[in-house]
Amino acid sequence: MTILITGGAGFIGSHLVRLFVEKYPAYHIFNLDALTYAGNLENLKDIENKSNYTFLKGDITNEVFINELFNKHKFESVIHLAAESHVDRSIEDPLAFVKTNVIGTMILLNAFKNLWKGNYKSKLFYHISTDEVYGTLGQTGLFTETTSYDPNSPYSASKASSDHFVRAYGETYGMPYVITNCSNNYGQNQFPEKLIPLFINNIINNKSLPVYGDGNYTRDWLYVKDHAKAIDLVFHKGEQGETYNIGGFNEWKNIDLVKLLCAQMDEKLNRPKGSSEKLITYVKDRPGHDLRYAIDASKMNKELGWKPSVTFEEGLSKTIDWYLSNEDWLKNVTSGEYQKYYQKQYN
Ligand code: NAD
Ligand code: DAU
Repeated sequence: MTILITGGAGFIGSHLVRLFVEKYPAYHIFNLDALTYAGNLENLKDIENKSNYTFLKGDITNEVFINELFNKHKFESVIHLAAESHVDRSIEDPLAFVKTNVIGTMILLNAFKNLWKGNYKSKLFYHISTDEVYGTLGQTGLFTETTSYDPNSPYSASKASSDHFVRAYGETYGMPYVITNCSNNYGQNQFPEKLIPLFINNIINNKSLPVYGDGNYTRDWLYVKDHAKAIDLVFHKGEQGETYNIGGFNEWKNIDLVKLLCAQMDEKLNRPKGSSEKLITYVKDRPGHDLRYAIDASKMNKELGWKPSVTFEEGLSKTIDWYLSNEDWLKNVTSGEYQKYYQKQYN
């Protein structure tokens, strides 16, 4: 089987590419990635020479290039992760999110449709999406697969839009598809613009920890390798035309999470108890900040037998250990463009 994974040099994509390349030697995995600031081939160094793996550098918004690629390699399945993925950046530059997340997805859908021309036996277009498409929850309740879409940020609106197009191609052209909407991921190789790796990096460097608003926003955290395992299950056993919610059954208020992170960091860095917490600084809130996300992942559990395998304390500890022993990776990705982004976002 030839599988195209888009965005495979990014955070979640790199874990998925590794899982598939190692677990399925009979598949050929093509990893297509534009290597934006968020994509990094360092993430895949250990598997880059495997015979069932090919990296392709390219942009999903380049229609001519994408059509040529599909005609050349005849991808039987697509697992589409390539995206602009950071909410704060979407507030600064919404159009970049429409280009990659909406137009890029459309270009892939068209290329897949034009290649197989209705001959869809054993084919699948798998779209990786987010729980943010559902908007925000109040203090209670959970997102289920039937919750109405109600996105609040340019990022989530662009992901909602691409989900709708995937579903529409299924209905209109009979294209076999599946969509999963996942909660917040954490783990090794995440770019340090997202909460957990940003705060780990700042604690290492004794920089302030910018908590948005009052810190009472809630997210549902999932260890990235558990997400990759869930994608593997849905890809092989999920029902076509279905949506599955994936989450960690693991809600944390930001401020409580940050305090746990600070405590673990103090211990690992041999710093006096309480020193990292002193770095917490409450800053201006994110516009349109969603109060709470929480996933009901019971469909994944009942139908596919999936559940998270790592507790949050364990996963967080492993994540911190990885960043502490990969300071070169951190230094490389935080040089150059990152500094400009940081100044603009936080000063
Ligand atoms: P990421 O930002 O770490 O990686 C995105 C990857 O896409 C990068 O390697 C980047 O180079 C590539 N890319 C961006 N624009 C491209 C383009 N035009 N053409 C080709 N490649 C391009 O993102 P992530 O956190 O790994 O998220 C991956 C996917 O999972 C996204 O679709 C995101 O919406 C979704 N998702 C993320 C989370 C999360 O918590 N991180 C949760 C649920 C869903
Ligand atoms: O829910 C899934 C989504 O999770 C994914 O679709 C997105 O790609 C991913 O970026 C993530 O979105 P969030 O906005 O929830 O993640 P982020 O790490 O940016 O922020 C997590 C929470 O922490 C959120 O409430 C905002 C807050 N925060 C974030 C940053 C970067 C801060 O308080 N300070 C910060 O500096």
